[in-house]
Amino acid sequence: MKHFLLIAISWVFTVLCATSTWAVSALPREKVLLDSDMVEAFDDGIAMLLLANAPNVELMGVTTLSGNSWVEMGTANAIRQLEQAGIRSVPVAAGLEYPLRPNRHELFALERKLTGRGHDLWTGSFGLKKPTNWQTAYKETYGTTPSMHPLAKHAVDFIIDTVRANPGQITIAAIGPCGNLALAVRKAPDIVPLIKRIIYMGGAFFQQGNTTPAAEFNWYFDPEAARIVVRSPFKEQIVLGLDVCEKVIFRREHYDRLIKTLANHPMRDMLRTSFAGQSFEKNPNFTFFVWDVLVSAVIIDPTLITESVECFIDVNDQMGLSYGQSLAYPQEAPLGVQKARIVTAVDSVRFWDLLNNLQYWQIKQ
Ligand code: BDR
Ligand code: CA
Repeated sequence: MKHFLLIAISWVFTVLCATSTWAVSALPREKVLLDSDMVEAFDDGIAMLLLANAPNVELMGVTTLSGNSWVEMGTANAIRQLEQAGIRSVPVAAGLEYPLRPNRHELFALERKLTGRGHDLWTGSFGLKKPTNWQTAYKETYGTTPSMHPLAKHAVDFIIDTVRANPGQITIAAIGPCGNLALAVRKAPDIVPLIKRIIYMGGAFFQQGNTTPAAEFNWYFDPEAARIVVRSPFKEQIVLGLDVCEKVIFRREHYDRLIKTLANHPMRDMLRTSFAGQSFEKNPNFTFFVWDVLVSAVIIDPTLITESVECFIDVNDQMGLSYGQSLAYPQEAPLGVQKARIVTAVDSVRFWDLLNNLQYWQIKQ
């Protein structure tokens, strides 16, 4: 009898384990489209790899545009990092070269005199030489030829087609300037109600900007585009601006931990040679932020968000001292603005644990 009972218990246990494993693997994965001004490693590159590897996410594609880097370089960076991580199933589509305001790049130096600088000297492609095309950018940077290629389709059309093919299911992670998304919603307004939600890294609502005293880089790079997008009536908008991003300080101890985690991973060398890696290697007191990586982290685990506020939001697109500034209205707001959840704090201890979890760093062959 005792023997029979033991067999029965172990049988029930086996069935329970099997069904719970099945239940986890059968959970629908969050379909995410990543729109990015891609760089190597921190921050856009790491944000992309986390999403590409997360078991609860299906990364539907990566669209690139100028911002941190010229779109040609960003496309090469995206392709290279996916190759390094053995991820061949995620399509990349190249998008906008320039912000919507005509001749913005030519005017940037003058504008800088007008607005003054923020606490970050980074100006992205406003201060960089434009590569001829993505292949040249790849070859010059990596000294070899790529084994993957971006789609022939423009990023704007890729966004439109992916949303239409997956109504109500796509989360957009907007971790660069908003040009691709602005043109997508202008060209195909029918996609707005079909998007499940949009999560931005952008803006600085309750604190100073980083690129100008008033504005954060992504939304300052293309204020007209950011305004079009945040004013679109999406079902849900979540924003991680500098308000939360500058609370998670990236220190040498975090860098050392990640380098250990990435032992034997090809991204380790890319991290070491990236701007952040080189700065940490040279100066143990160097600090940085992880910006876009937080967007991926809260998509993977929304319980990382510990504080947020609901406001109507907007972006100032009037050229002047506050060009590109993000605006938050708790109650009364100008006509045409939409609501968003502005994240103001995350659990940083759990964030660093997530980043060092090896399941996000498996190399796929
Ligand atoms: C944002 O600007 C870019 O430099 C980063 O990738 C991030 O998206 C921070 O202001
Ligand atoms: Ca970015």
